[in-house]
Amino acid sequence: MTNAFDFAPLLPPNLPPPAVRWTGAAKYNFTGGNNDADAVPVEALIAAATSALKREGRNLATYGLTTGPQGYRPLREFLVGKLKRDASIDCSADDILLVSGSLQALDLVNGALLARGDTVICEQDTYQGTLTRFMRLGVKAIGIPLDRDGMRMDALAAALEDGKRRGVRPKMIYTIPTVQNPTATILSEARRAELLGLAERYGVPIFEDDCYSDLIWDGKRPPALYAMSKAGNVIHCGSFSKSIAPALRVGFLVAPWAILSRMLPLKTDAGSGALEQLVLADYCAPNFTAHVPALRQALRAKVETLMETLNEQFGTAAEFDDPKGGIFLWVKLPDSVDTMKLYQAALKEGVAINPGPEWSTDAKHSGARLRICFASPSKQQIREGIAILAEVCRREFGVPTRSANVERARA
Ligand SMILES: Cc1ncc(COP(=O)(O)O)c(C=O)c1O
Repeated sequence: MTNAFDFAPLLPPNLPPPAVRWTGAAKYNFTGGNNDADAVPVEALIAAATSALKREGRNLATYGLTTGPQGYRPLREFLVGKLKRDASIDCSADDILLVSGSLQALDLVNGALLARGDTVICEQDTYQGTLTRFMRLGVKAIGIPLDRDGMRMDALAAALEDGKRRGVRPKMIYTIPTVQNPTATILSEARRAELLGLAERYGVPIFEDDCYSDLIWDGKRPPALYAMSKAGNVIHCGSFSKSIAPALRVGFLVAPWAILSRMLPLKTDAGSGALEQLVLADYCAPNFTAHVPALRQALRAKVETLMETLNEQFGTAAEFDDPKGGIFLWVKLPDSVDTMKLYQAALKEGVAINPGPEWSTDAKHSGARLRICFASPSKQQIREGIAILAEVCRREFGVPTRSANVERARA
């Protein structure tokens, strides 16, 4: 092939920048939402695949198997029980749409609600995949600051009132209330009630992205916003990515039919992968409740290694809160550190981090912050990778100072 054809003049405007060819993962990879490879329940998944295929294999001849466009019904039925038990959500299998990861849920919700020029509200520090989608759609995202208990309701009230004064009604409040990405905060039940009250008062729906809610260390979570809402103005999404494995690409939406019926026609892929849904249905019913605490324990052990190593290597230069769950630590370095530059320099040494500005609506606030995924690297990789990161940071920005580091390490 000569590669001579020029596609460039044919490309529509507003395409994202071209992809860079993948050249392999960094040796020390603290990026993305990858999970702990040792915690994937491989043997039980093999057994589930075998039993599911023996029973349902012939149904693969039909698009959507035989249970319709909302996805494999036994998996939806598992979710009905799980959501009731864990999140206090009362719903039926007909309220659930299985999707290709919660990323597809984001696309469907955005597709049903957003048009260029719209305004949305989200947490100030939030999921990059959401921010890039808003940007691409030409939607203005107003970031609401967080504190240790999640999105600040005083700031949300002020933003909604300010919008009203200017005649702007946000199309939705996108929130990750339960183990927020990247801050790992959990919105308290009282704040959830406040959020619902504000959303109702200003006529704004809420999109609740709940994919980390299984990963709270003590397993105790507040009820979902979807469960607490009396106005039917909440769309809920979840995922098996963080509780089982992200490469499966199975997520789910729970929503009133009034809006689910507008999202379903936008799901134009003739159904998400059926094999994954079959395997999950057979795996989850008998195994999910025992699997998740074991996963949490493995993740907790890793974050302890990470926090310990950061303290040793960065001393007081690295500020962070002990997270209540999840797979990320959101770390603040001294203001003199530019994590976009640190990211580039560290990558050259084989250490990949997520620089703060890519996870925030406010580049200034997040300029010295970084997100570290601790789930996928081994404890040894965490120790080695963070030591290299500290060395690179010291070389590039003069922090942490060597003496502080040595003192800390001896303490
Ligand atoms: C907040 C949030 N939403 C959605 C996703 C997408 O997850 P998936 O499509 O794998 O379910 C992620 C992944 O990291 C996430 O952090």
